[in-house]
Amino acid sequence: MNSLVTSNPLREDRLWPPPPAEIAAFHRRMPAYSPTLLLDAPDLASKLGIGRLLIKAETRRMGLPSFKILGASWATYRALCAHIGHEPEPWGNINELAANLAHLRPFTLATATDGNHGRAVSFMARLLGFDARIFVPEGMARARTKAMEAEGAVVTVVNGDYDDAVTRAGEEAGESCIVVSDTSWPGYETIPAQVIEGYTTIFAEVDEAIDASDLDHPDLVVVPMGVGAFMSAAITHYRSGDHRPLIVGVEPIDANCVQASALAGNITHVPGPHRSIMVGLNCGRPSLIAWPRLAAGIDWFVSVDDDSARQAMRDLAGAAVVAGETGAASLAGLEALLIDEAAAGQLPDLSDRTVMIVVTEGATDPAAYETVVGRSHDRIGRVLTAIRP
Ligand SMILES: Cc1ncc(COP(=O)(O)O)c(C=O)c1O
Repeated sequence: MNSLVTSNPLREDRLWPPPPAEIAAFHRRMPAYSPTLLLDAPDLASKLGIGRLLIKAETRRMGLPSFKILGASWATYRALCAHIGHEPEPWGNINELAANLAHLRPFTLATATDGNHGRAVSFMARLLGFDARIFVPEGMARARTKAMEAEGAVVTVVNGDYDDAVTRAGEEAGESCIVVSDTSWPGYETIPAQVIEGYTTIFAEVDEAIDASDLDHPDLVVVPMGVGAFMSAAITHYRSGDHRPLIVGVEPIDANCVQASALAGNITHVPGPHRSIMVGLNCGRPSLIAWPRLAAGIDWFVSVDDDSARQAMRDLAGAAVVAGETGAASLAGLEALLIDEAAAGQLPDLSDRTVMIVVTEGATDPAAYETVVGRSHDRIGRVLTAIRP
């Protein structure tokens, strides 16, 4: 297995303002909101030689198979508030919010995606009675485009990669169309910043779950990175509060744009084609607004190959966690970090410490999942009760 482990030459001891307090209250008004599971995986922990492994399982969130709806919902809401010039209060649930915004119809939400964010934006548009226009790179698995179409979105395949799809989606903005992108570029920064804010709910839930138990807060947290928006949320959380774990970012080895940027000293483009099976991480350029936090806040970068992602999917299935290719990246990265000799000399002894990985998606491509793991995703983690005569 091929990996590249490097410490962050740009790391600074810097603190950031905490995210706005009203985000959690907003998410609680979303349909089917409940905190996702924080799992203890003792067998994997002993296999890895660490004290405790916690898995924050974002495999099912508000009925969708990834965490992305947290950012898409909050950013859409804030963008609509800005569009109409006030908060569409009062509303207690999504139907009341949709009714308060009905005067805008016909109205469109647009974005580029490599899968999960576009599905979340499509879902949000459907809940609000709006249209969705989603731009995707060439070669996206049919299961992913179909999932967006099932939400009512019009999906357009752009001639090129994810970065080309981002450029194309940006052209859609207009009087009756908001672009809800999870990455940013010069002049388009507010909405992606709100996407990042929305993701911080995950880490607030982790703190609540740990505070309600007798467990320790993690000493090391591992997060997958595409454009780095999700990592930026992790840094916002862990570099603004009392708990300051080491932070590790994981990328595919041929789309390691955050690692390459840190090594180069500034934002760097890693040219495609990006063909990793960790499709959510196939990005060539870090998000502009995420970059200051990424540069200062990450301790270690790990880039991994597809074979390690496949192995991590199987290892997580063994721990009853259904992780898609992108979702399994954090475990693949942790494994690569722990066997890296140079890192071992610099990391604290983790044999009695707590490590948390975030598994950011479930089986977003069920057929591919079954090919890798050897079992259908709906056969993982079943609880069997012996039937006695
Ligand atoms: C499942 C999953 N995990 C992680 C990421 C990475 O997020 P970001 O692009 O914000 O770094 C993505 C992005 O699409 C994703 O879909």
